[in-house]
Amino acid sequence: EMTPEEAAFQDRIDADIKIEPKDWMPDEYRATLVRQIGQHAHSEIVGQLPEGNWITRAPTLERKAILLAKVQDEAGHGLYLYCAAETLGVSRDELTEDLLSGRMKYSSIFNYPTLNWADIGAVGWLVDGAAIMNQVPLQRTSYGPYSRAMIRICKEESFHQRQGYDIMMKMAQGTEAQKKMAQDALNRFWYPSLMMFGPSDKESVHSAQSMAWKIKIDSNDELRQRFVDQTVPQAEYLGLTVPDDKLKWNEERGHYDFSEPDWTEFFNVLKGKGPCNTERMNGRKRAWEDGAWVRDGLMAHAQKRAARKVA
Ligand code: 3HC
Repeated sequence: EMTPEEAAFQDRIDADIKIEPKDWMPDEYRATLVRQIGQHAHSEIVGQLPEGNWITRAPTLERKAILLAKVQDEAGHGLYLYCAAETLGVSRDELTEDLLSGRMKYSSIFNYPTLNWADIGAVGWLVDGAAIMNQVPLQRTSYGPYSRAMIRICKEESFHQRQGYDIMMKMAQGTEAQKKMAQDALNRFWYPSLMMFGPSDKESVHSAQSMAWKIKIDSNDELRQRFVDQTVPQAEYLGLTVPDDKLKWNEERGHYDFSEPDWTEFFNVLKGKGPCNTERMNGRKRAWEDGAWVRDGLMAHAQKRAARKVA
């Protein structure tokens, strides 16, 4: 049974009126937003590591400049999202502490290695492609600051996907060796990209409530299906083969039938047993420790300035 406040809140959600930081909201609504926005921000920050690995090894100056711009964008996306989370009363330092302690998650996809330049193409094409599929509907999420962050982020994401697909086109239409690398990258990134949409709807613990509060607009399986339907023709255009012999267009469904990812692998990666979990967390811990002197200096400077003002 809803209290009058909860009923009035749900009416606002149903009327698509944005919830703003100073509005009353159920504790659970606030908590699930901190969880989702915080983990989304962590994903942006950790996501810089696999790509950053190739900035110094990009094949041309132009590719290096593009990749540098993309990694910088991801850092900015992380900051927008940490700012959105701060409007819910949680600080960036607390969220960072929760990430580094393992209490909070980041997207499973970033626990897979980028072994060669074709992987940078596959990451842009598939990972940013999946991220866009997930983020476009999130522009309509019920919490104002999150919705506005998503609108801003989506503007930059399409460049990320296009530059990745451009790399894949170059390699798929290049030498035999390059085409093999592109196919190998697709083989390794296809199923982990499907996992980005989360567990199947029947396994999803948060979907029902998140959809009732219009935090989540489309279900995990709906977005995964939309991603497959859009991406298979793109793979065909490249002359590459999606590593799924069950993949087939289903006329009456109007969608592709496809094999689900290996959910045991998915839950193992979430438990920290993916190929790169330790490396990614150590990377973030090192960055946090190496940056301590900068944070301390800035705080000392701010305190001196504040003291001068008072005096
Ligand atoms: N990686 C890690 N954890 C995942 C996951 C994934 N791919 N998919 C689901 N989970 C976790 C959920 O966080 C939840 O665990 P928690 O309770 O500890 O948070 C659990 O698995 C159950 O999943 P649910 O489907 O019930 O959880 P949600 O309703 O939160 O749905 C989600 C999961 C679809 C990822 C949703 O949280 C979401 O839309 N988040 C915002 C988008 C996001 O985080 N995208 C990251 C992609 S990478 C990125 O954006 C960077 C880009 O620039 C490349």
